[in-house]
Amino acid sequence: MKPVVWGVLSTSKIGLEHVIPAMLSSPLVELRAIASRSLPAAQAAARSAGIPQAYGSYEALLADPAIEAVYNPLPNHLHVPMTLAAAAAGKHVLCEKPFALSTAEAQSAKDAASRVLIEEAFMVRHHPQWLRARELVRAGRIGTPRAVQVFFSYFNDDAANIRNQPGIGGGALYDIGCYAVLAGRYLFEAEPLRAVSLVDRDPVLGTDRLTSALLDFGSGRQLGFTVSTQSVPFQRVQVVGTTGRIELFIPFNAARGGQMKLALDEGGRLDGSSITVETLPAADQYRLEVEDFSRRVREGAGCETASGLGDALAQARVIDALWHSERSGRWEPIA
Ligand SMILES: NC(=O)c1ccc[n+]([C@@H]2O[C@H](COP(=O)([O-])OP(=O)(O)OC[C@H]3O[C@@H](n4cnc5c(N)ncnc54)[C@H](OP(=O)(O)O)[C@@H]3O)[C@@H](O)[C@H]2O)c1
Repeated sequence: MKPVVWGVLSTSKIGLEHVIPAMLSSPLVELRAIASRSLPAAQAAARSAGIPQAYGSYEALLADPAIEAVYNPLPNHLHVPMTLAAAAAGKHVLCEKPFALSTAEAQSAKDAASRVLIEEAFMVRHHPQWLRARELVRAGRIGTPRAVQVFFSYFNDDAANIRNQPGIGGGALYDIGCYAVLAGRYLFEAEPLRAVSLVDRDPVLGTDRLTSALLDFGSGRQLGFTVSTQSVPFQRVQVVGTTGRIELFIPFNAARGGQMKLALDEGGRLDGSSITVETLPAADQYRLEVEDFSRRVREGAGCETASGLGDALAQARVIDALWHSERSGRWEPIA
């Protein structure tokens, strides 16, 4: 396959530390350019990563006719606007999570998504541990799946960090709650019907620093999660079924190239003697993500894919309902 020519919008941490190294390691990607609001910052990043072209504005990168696909890891409030700008320039867009701040904003990308590929960059769904967990659920190894439980936390109260600025889409629900919502939708392979949330906001920053939620997937299936930007770093996904349980130990920040472990308990013995631990193949989930996207760009298949705008819209609907529930104090339908 001829490599897809990519450009990266901004000198974001996630780009420099994870996604750009993944792109550079892949024969399916030709990383041509990086853009920043500051030309010297773009030049420094380009020099250190070995990227041929640096641009001093995002618009200049989008005007480069050689670029076919753009990676958008801007702060959350710029995800949809810069995705639309990239799509208007004819570029496919892999956009960081959360794709949109609201369902209405996600809807505004509908026309663009009929012309180019647009995808919310949930790298985890490409990782062998997520694929294996879903395979075990599908194979009935835990009986009927009943509950998905997710915990995801870290401690960051730096007011300068994009995660702690409410005006640009900061806070726990947008930043990491989106992964919990994804875990429920991915493992149940269904959409939730209604949701309720309990939100604690930092009195100074204004962002949600501890958010818990319950989502009703119907047919006796529930997702419960807690996410926090001001708690000790911890992450887990548990899937509990009628006869068994699956546990992912590092479900979101799997080490690049590391071998993750998954626990399968098919006997439910409380002393743990019915648990088997599987070691999964080494993987770089960011490389798998950009390669999957690049293949779909080259295949030229229809723009609406299983992980495309429809999926991003489904995510946004759940997050909207959780914000509504924060205000109403009640269960809210997921429209
Ligand atoms: N998938 C994952 O594993 C993962 C992990 C972490 C983060 N993310 C997502 O990736 C995005 C970036 O996160 P990050 O932690 O890498 O953030 P970051 O280091 O703060 O990068 C954001 C970049 O956006 C640009 N920018 C434009 N307007 C800005 C503004 N008003 N304030 C701050 N920066 C602005 C800056 O680049 P220039 O100065 O170069 O223009 C900045 O470097 C977020 O949407 C986040 O949710 C995803």
